[in-house]
Amino acid sequence: MLPKLSLALALLALSLQASARPLQQREASPGIIEDLLTGILTPITQLIKDVLSEAKSAIDDTKSSKPLTCSLLLLGSDRCCVWWDVSAELTKQFVQSDGQCNDNARAAVRMGFHDAGSWDNSSTNGGADGSLLMDFGEQNRAENNGLQSIRTLLRTVKSKYGVGYADLAQYAHNHATISCPKGPRVRTFVGRKDATQAAPNGLMPDVHDSADNLIALFQRKGFSAYDLAALVGAHSTSRQRFVDTTPAAANKPLDTTIGVWDVNFYNDTLNNPAGTNASQIVYVLPSDKVLSTHPLIKDEWKSFVGNQPDWNEDYATAYVRMSLLGVQNLGDLVDCTKTLPASRKQYP
Ligand code: HEM
Ligand SMILES: *[C@@H]1O[C@H](CO)[C@@H](O)[C@H](O)[C@H]1NC(C)=O
Ligand SMILES: *[C@@H]1O[C@H](CO)[C@@H](O)[C@H](O)[C@H]1NC(C)=O
Ligand SMILES: *[C@@H]1O[C@H](CO)[C@@H](O)[C@H](O)[C@H]1NC(C)=O
Repeated sequence: MLPKLSLALALLALSLQASARPLQQREASPGIIEDLLTGILTPITQLIKDVLSEAKSAIDDTKSSKPLTCSLLLLGSDRCCVWWDVSAELTKQFVQSDGQCNDNARAAVRMGFHDAGSWDNSSTNGGADGSLLMDFGEQNRAENNGLQSIRTLLRTVKSKYGVGYADLAQYAHNHATISCPKGPRVRTFVGRKDATQAAPNGLMPDVHDSADNLIALFQRKGFSAYDLAALVGAHSTSRQRFVDTTPAAANKPLDTTIGVWDVNFYNDTLNNPAGTNASQIVYVLPSDKVLSTHPLIKDEWKSFVGNQPDWNEDYATAYVRMSLLGVQNLGDLVDCTKTLPASRKQYP
């Protein structure tokens, strides 16, 4: 009886371990976040290092409710307190009545990327600094077209709860991915400093660029080609509005199930024509098409088809890096993942 039980437990532990690992092992990505994570580490910088190196999962499903101590001002030392309130507000804004995520959620996913992504390893400012939510004029850059209404919404949330712009842009991204059924509950840090100037220009990807250029651009931000393949999966919950404005293509989704954070996007991109014809449901961005067939990416791309757990894990790992681009005060951050809504692994 006893040996049987311990054998069963050992097998269970093994299978849990196996399922927690991504299929492919990756090379450590370049980038200066690692440069900040040397020497004596604190619990928070150790956690960030472990997540970026995949020693720890970038997904954390541990949820807790706002504790009473948050309401007692003297005891309110938990820096996550306000984020439970922000979370309740964002759930109202991001989830529609059938449980799927809505246009605000997809815009928030894009907002987090566009705020953090304007950075590379030669930048002295930019990154996840809230500059796009602030008043430096970035909202008028062509690449940020379509982010106007989420910017207004998040600025209202900022004034209501008094949180920082930089944290809110990334918190809202992570809240939006978990607001979509099947989305990952990405580890969520707060405590960033807000920007003092606009992010550098010209560091966002162009939808008509070659795969080689896109891979090189992301490499200068610290992402491998593999990370890029995982990150563009955010188009699972996306629409195009400005790439092709002909009536036959207007507002088309980039995957068949736009309200769900799933891997259909990877299959849809491989199997569909561009989507310019009115009878086609899905639109395929030229950048996604060229990435999906690039020699450095095509195997990973195919491996994500039908493999939600691996994609979620890889997306989350890459996005934690994104959410910390250009952030210098890593030691001041706190982990507020516990304030996010619960994950929903099944839909419907
Ligand atoms: C090669 C890199 C990428 C390129 C060239 C690219 C390009 C685009 C383009 C052209 C659109 C459509 C905009 C429109 O016409 O409304 C779009 C939408 C979107 N992108 Fe990307 N993107 C890239 C990577 C990413 C990444 C890394 C993320 C998130 C982590 C992301 C998230 C989104 C989201 C959520 C939308 C939908 C926004 C909405 O429907 O409101 N993209 N992207
Ligand atoms: C930035 O990253 C790229 C790609 O990894 C590398 O070739 C380049 O030398 C780096 N530049 C700086 C200034 O660190
Ligand atoms: C992939 O897409 C094709 C064509 O749209 C479809 O027939 C097939 O069932 C899809 N496969 C998966 C695994 O989703
Ligand atoms: C659109 O695509 C459908 C099916 O692929 C095809 O039958 C039809 O002729 C196409 N229409 C145009 C205008 O290309």
